[in-house]
Amino acid sequence: MTFLTEGPMNNPMTPNNPLTLNNCVRMPALGFGVFQSAPEETAVAVETALTAGYRHIDTAAGYGNEREVGEGIRRSGLDRDEVFIETKVWVSDYGYDQTLHAFEKSATKLGVTQIDLLILHQPMPQHFERTLSAYRALEQLLADGKVRSIGVSNFMPHHLTALREQTHVVPAVNQVELHPYFTQPAVQRANTELGIVTQAWSPIGGITFYPGWGENRASVLDDTTIGRIAEAHAKTPAQVMLRWHLQQGRSVIPKSTNAQRIAQNIDVFDFTLSDAELDAIDALDRGVRGGPDPDDVDPSTWDLEIPEP
Ligand code: A2P
Repeated sequence: MTFLTEGPMNNPMTPNNPLTLNNCVRMPALGFGVFQSAPEETAVAVETALTAGYRHIDTAAGYGNEREVGEGIRRSGLDRDEVFIETKVWVSDYGYDQTLHAFEKSATKLGVTQIDLLILHQPMPQHFERTLSAYRALEQLLADGKVRSIGVSNFMPHHLTALREQTHVVPAVNQVELHPYFTQPAVQRANTELGIVTQAWSPIGGITFYPGWGENRASVLDDTTIGRIAEAHAKTPAQVMLRWHLQQGRSVIPKSTNAQRIAQNIDVFDFTLSDAELDAIDALDRGVRGGPDPDDVDPSTWDLEIPEP
């Protein structure tokens, strides 16, 4: 299943494989994720990732580690404009003025004046008006040059439709749960039709094996089809999954705090999966989420307050 759009979409063999977003901003397709990275581990992990060659870091106000992401970037010695920084507004900060202020909080913690990609962490289906107000604030931040691009996360096609009907700027990115056991074809199709880059969270299926996220789950890392393909290319299952995403035009943000795995996850530009192999991985889809259903999120999680810097 390939959802590549027409146009200057990119050569997945180039390290960092820049994707051109719908407002012409270029974003390295392969980013580094820090979901569930403890603050004390995050600065080291980010510095390690940047040294290994990553040039895109994805964090979120709700992860509580933006400050450490900024610290890791500074420790790397790279210039600010060499690193693409993506972060997310948490739902407790939705609303026009609140979201404008959420930008200030995130930027201050990250230690930057401009954020490359700012996205809404999830829709609030029961309070969609507040979601829209938050998105209008992102549009304002974009117009003011405080962010270079804007987008959404965990939006299903009907959320995208409602957003498009009532706001102006097409999101550049929609970050959703996406791995071989949950490929979300309808979301991918809707994104492509609108010119939105699909960005996979849990791209190697971490959500299928995180401790404490439910019983009887099967780890994609242990899948025999992926294992067979990995063996054929002398690569690991994680590398095969990342390659599958990149060849199908998606952005990925694998998370690791382990230096070896951080390096392994960017070492994916020296092999190519055949169409048959891509199809075999597509066929693994079980249509079952590992994470929460965006239309049925536990409202108690909305209470998380994002502290002032
Ligand atoms: P760790 O941080 O100890 O490396 P995802 O980004 O799909 O949610 O996956 C993240 C999970 O996968 C984390 O538990 C991470 O643990 C683990 N992980 C990251 N890279 C690899 C890899 N190359 N092989 C196996 N596990 C990995």
